[in-house]
Amino acid sequence: MRDTFGRVADDLRISVTDRCNFRCVYCMPAAGMAWLARDEVLSFEEIVRLTRILVEECGVRTIRLTGGEPLVRKGIEQLTGMIAAIDPSLDIAMTTNGILLREKAQALRDAGLRRLNVSLDTLHSDRFRNLARRDALDRVLDGLAAAREAGFEPIKLNMVVMRGRNDDEILDFAKLARREGYQVRFIEFMPLDADGIWSQDDVVASRDIIEAIDREFPLEPLLNDRPAPATSFRFKDGAAGGVGVIPSVSDAFCRICNRIRLTAEGHLRTCLFSLQEHDLKVLLRGGASDLEIRDAVVRAVWQKEEGHKIGQADFVRPAKSMSQIGG
Ligand code: GTP
Ligand code: 5AD
Ligand code: SF4
Repeated sequence: MRDTFGRVADDLRISVTDRCNFRCVYCMPAAGMAWLARDEVLSFEEIVRLTRILVEECGVRTIRLTGGEPLVRKGIEQLTGMIAAIDPSLDIAMTTNGILLREKAQALRDAGLRRLNVSLDTLHSDRFRNLARRDALDRVLDGLAAAREAGFEPIKLNMVVMRGRNDDEILDFAKLARREGYQVRFIEFMPLDADGIWSQDDVVASRDIIEAIDREFPLEPLLNDRPAPATSFRFKDGAAGGVGVIPSVSDAFCRICNRIRLTAEGHLRTCLFSLQEHDLKVLLRGGASDLEIRDAVVRAVWQKEEGHKIGQADFVRPAKSMSQIGG
């Protein structure tokens, strides 16, 4: 599926729920989030049908399950297995906050989940309580241990860096990467938080992060084999793990973006910052054929935005915040 800028969309991110058991400050409000009603959310059968059309008719090769928090969707391991059964060569990954991994990691791995990204923004309990608004650092760390025991390798950690809140922990996370073999990715905070607290001053530039780590632990860039928002590095001294940056604000990967997103209520978004969505649920529930659905997706991808306009005069924030989009 090509767009008018010559990019090929072959990566599908599926938000399986808009619900979450955390309330991270850069994503959700502390309280008052209105959830989708149960019947508004796509069923497993609907998700699988859409995914099959996208894989078999539209060339999708990689799939990432997101949320909200994907592990709060009951039966997520069954859904993972159903998606894996569409095509055993699919690369299926998940981004999770990690709190339920002790219970779910092995079942997910057995179901065919190949790769795992876990959000972790601080190594201090009190800060964790402020950032995620839940007292859960120990459970997340234990979830990470469970993921390793289940054989996930590599495990990527996502740290959203916010000036004055956790940017003093960058070197600690680099040390964690070296000690535990994680791929730690430092993400620039994007204006997709529900409370509207984002400001350009909160963003720590990726270049500064890499320079700070490189001064302490010299780094060597790695080449990406697929389009990816992260620029990754390994440690020159041969230590385990690695670090990466996702310069979503300072140098977005829009130019090579290969992604499309399916929201929990069955809308297709062609960009994190899309101002319009394409309602596929209405087609699914209205008796449309596979080919009609395929054509609707192809048409939507053709209209994919050139990129986000953060920092430009005509930037408009989408009405949805991160947990409703899927990250
Ligand atoms: P892999 O590289 O395959 O591991 O996936 P990923 O890095 O896309 O997965 P993940 O869901 O962990 O995303 C990490 C972060 O990248 C997210 O928190 C977002 O902040 C950012 N991100 C994801 N998709 C996009 C995108 O389309 N555009 C931009 N600018 N940033 C994105
Ligand atoms: N800016 C950057 N990254 C964000 N995430 C959530 N909200 C934001 C934001 N405003 C990240 C989470 C998670 C991924 C799905 O998105 O940390 O790793
Ligand atoms: Fe939940 Fe993830 Fe949003 Fe945090 S960033 S509130 S874990 S959806």
